[in-house]
Formats: sequence, C-alpha cells, structure tokens
Amino acid sequence: MASHQMAAGMTSMANMGDMKDMEHMEGMEHSLSKGGKVPCDSITIPESSAPIRKFDLTAARTTLKLDNGKNIEAWTFNDMSPGPELRVTEGDRIVITLYNKDIEDGVTIHWHGITVPCSQDGIAGVTQDAVHPGEQFTYTFIATNPGTYWYHSHQMSSIQVSKGLLGALIVEPKKSSKSDTSMSEATALYQQLDSSMLVNGSTRGLTIPGKTGELIRLRLINSGNETMEFIVYGAPFRVMAMDGHDLHEPGLLKETMIPIGAGQRYDLLIQVPGSGKVVISSPSAVDLPITIGSGSQPQHKEGGQLFSYVDYGNPVPDDPVLQLKPDRHFELKLGQTLFTKSINGKSFHEIPPMIVKEGDHVLITVSNEGGGDHPFHLHGHVFRVLSKNGSTLQGSPVYLDTLLTKEGETYELYLEADNPGLWMIHCHNLKHASMGMSMMLNYEGITTPYRVGTKSGNLPDL
Ligand code: C2O
Ligand code: CU
Repeated sequence: MASHQMAAGMTSMANMGDMKDMEHMEGMEHSLSKGGKVPCDSITIPESSAPIRKFDLTAARTTLKLDNGKNIEAWTFNDMSPGPELRVTEGDRIVITLYNKDIEDGVTIHWHGITVPCSQDGIAGVTQDAVHPGEQFTYTFIATNPGTYWYHSHQMSSIQVSKGLLGALIVEPKKSSKSDTSMSEATALYQQLDSSMLVNGSTRGLTIPGKTGELIRLRLINSGNETMEFIVYGAPFRVMAMDGHDLHEPGLLKETMIPIGAGQRYDLLIQVPGSGKVVISSPSAVDLPITIGSGSQPQHKEGGQLFSYVDYGNPVPDDPVLQLKPDRHFELKLGQTLFTKSINGKSFHEIPPMIVKEGDHVLITVSNEGGGDHPFHLHGHVFRVLSKNGSTLQGSPVYLDTLLTKEGETYELYLEADNPGLWMIHCHNLKHASMGMSMMLNYEGITTPYRVGTKSGNLPDL
C-alpha cells in the first residue's frame, strides 16, 4: 500500500509525539537487520504428530450493535469483538489463517503469552509484513502450556486493539493431567472498545450459572490499557493462575482486591455458596459485574486489602531457578520525558536492545519511575518474578508474561533465553507503547527480512 496514504491518515490524528514516533520507527529499519545468520521467519515449529486444530479469523470493518442499543464502528474478527474464543487442548498444533477483508492499514495477530517460534509472533515489521486487504497469513504453533491467553493485532496495536481486533485464547489442560471434573469455568474478557467498556462484548455484565458447592474457574482477561481492580463479594476464593501459569498451593482469600494490569490474566477459583450469589466487580467497570449463581445479593463491603503475590501460596521444594547464576543482567527504568514514555530515558530505536544468546540465564531489574502504571510485557518468553522492592518472593513461584508495575516499584525478573528470535518488550498500556515505551530482546545471530517504518507500512505499536 502507498505509504503516503497511511502517513496522511495518521497526520489527521497525529500530535507531535506521533510524528516523532514515525521517525524513530524508520530508524529501526536498519538496526534490526544488522549482522547474524538466522532469519526470524525461518524459525518455525517442526513437523509432529500433534493433533491439529484449525481456525479461520477474518478481520473486517463491522458495525456492531451493542446490547445497549448503541451502534459502534468496530474492527472485528469474524464480525465480532471480542473475536471468537479459541479453545484448544494442551499439546495441540494450532493452525490459524488470518484473512484481512478491508482493514486498510493491514493487520497481524499476536498470541499474547504463548511462547511461539519467532516467525509466528505476529509482529508487523519484525516477524512478518502486515497482512493487507485481500491477503492472508497462516500461523502455526503448539499450545504448549495450558492457561488463559488472548490474541490481538500487533499492527498499529494501540489503534487496532481499541477498535476491537482481539479475542480470548484458552488452552485447556489434557484430560489426564486434571482429574477434576466437578469444575466448570467461564471467561470474562474486559475490553475498551472506543469509548465503551465491555465484558465479553456486553455493556451489561455477565451472568454465570452455578449450583451451590460448584467450583468455578473464572478466567479474567484485561485487554484494555488501564489497570483494573476486582473485588469478589459473597464467597472466599483462590487465585489459581496468573498469566496462564498455575500458582502452587494458593490459599483462600477474602475481601481482597485483585489488581489486573493491562494485558494480564488472573484465573480465580470460586465456590458457589449456599447462601446466594457471588458478585465480582471492578470500580473501573461498575456497570459490568460478573454474577455467579442465584439467590440473594451479597453484601457489598468497601475496600479490602490489595492482593499481593509476594507471599501467596507455597514455594515448591528444591526450586531449580533459585540455584541459578545469571549470565547477564539488564536494568530497565520505565519512565517518561516531556513527549514520550521512555525506558532508561530513551524511546523506541534509541533504546539499545537487550542482546542475549541461547541458553543464557538473564536477570532483569525493572523499576517504575513514573508516568503511571506500566504493565511490562515480554514476547516469546515467560519470566519468573524473583523479588519486589527488594523482598524475595516467599510464596508460590510466579511466572508471568506481563508484569504490572506501579510508580516507585522495583522488580527482579529471571528468564531463560530458550527461544531464539527477535522479541518485543513494551508497556501494555498500548498508548504508552505508541509513545515510545517499547524495545527489543534480540538473540545474537537472528535477523529479519522485514522492516518497520512508514515506508514498509509496518508499524507494530503505533
Ligand atoms: Cu499483547 Cu506486544 O503484546
Ligand atoms: Cu506504561
């Protein structure tokens, strides 16, 4: 597509920050392709006998009629926003063909939280070209880890995600690995669609049937840009998983507020009480409560303490990660300058990539020096949270792909460099990412034939 066409489109909505971004992006065209031998797009999964699950997702402009009667000009997958919930089983080989009907700037799909091979990560200008109207692209990966994930476009992500190009991706555990059949489950995907806040596409909230005594695994997904806090009324509950990764021996919680950063997922386990309903609600989405069961309304209490995973659940015996010595240490300071959101005082391609090689044990210190909450998201990997504000985590090991950081906080993260590629790291307040808070974790020797910039039209986090 003609790049001037897009540039014009952007100028109409551009402020100074946007114009600057585009220059930085152009700069990236060169830095990503230097040196090395293995192109990212040659890194795919090998043939295997894994069961194949096929899906088609068509991106298109759609007028959505919301359940409050309002019409919204949305960008959708299969005429829906959120797009269809993709449910697969651990170990499946997932084959998803993306078609672009008429999203002019092109689209991609990123599988948020899933550790895919580099070529399948869906990053316009890094792992592929944006898929333009009339074109298609097929993604193939193995759903290795059961859990709650989501997908979204990673072309102009701050625009396209808020226009609706997203959906839930649930990887169910293999039947044999969980004998628990008395558990039912539900997904609650919160999104900001232009100016409307929705849960599973509704403006009214969510009702989940539940019989007394039944256990419900509630998969909360925050696909918006702001942190959401959830309060559970009417029953004690447990945090079963964060970002798709089960916690070890999670304890019962009561009157605890669960903060879910942008891009994060929390799975709560709730037992339907004899007395009545359970209501899960968020002060930032008061009109979108989740109601489980029937009977009398639970009492609403104010406040409650904030959930902390620093001492939640139990450690695992002989934790191998605690034995490791890091080979590399990086420090990232998330902050802001006058017109940008920055990492170590720089934005976009000015930020030198973290360079690692396969097999490295990597320690990353992340601190939030201001500019709001920064949910720090890394592609292609899961990292372990080692400490918060100098205190070592005492409870269950915590593995995340998105770390919520609040102003003044410092975290130490550990990751194993086990997935060679070129990986984005960015704030999942996608507005912050579009203002510069975005960088790369690159493996030595990996290159890309694709280019980011206005010339190629690939603008992953504009
Ligand atoms: Cu949800 Cu760069 O990703
Ligand atoms: Cu941020």
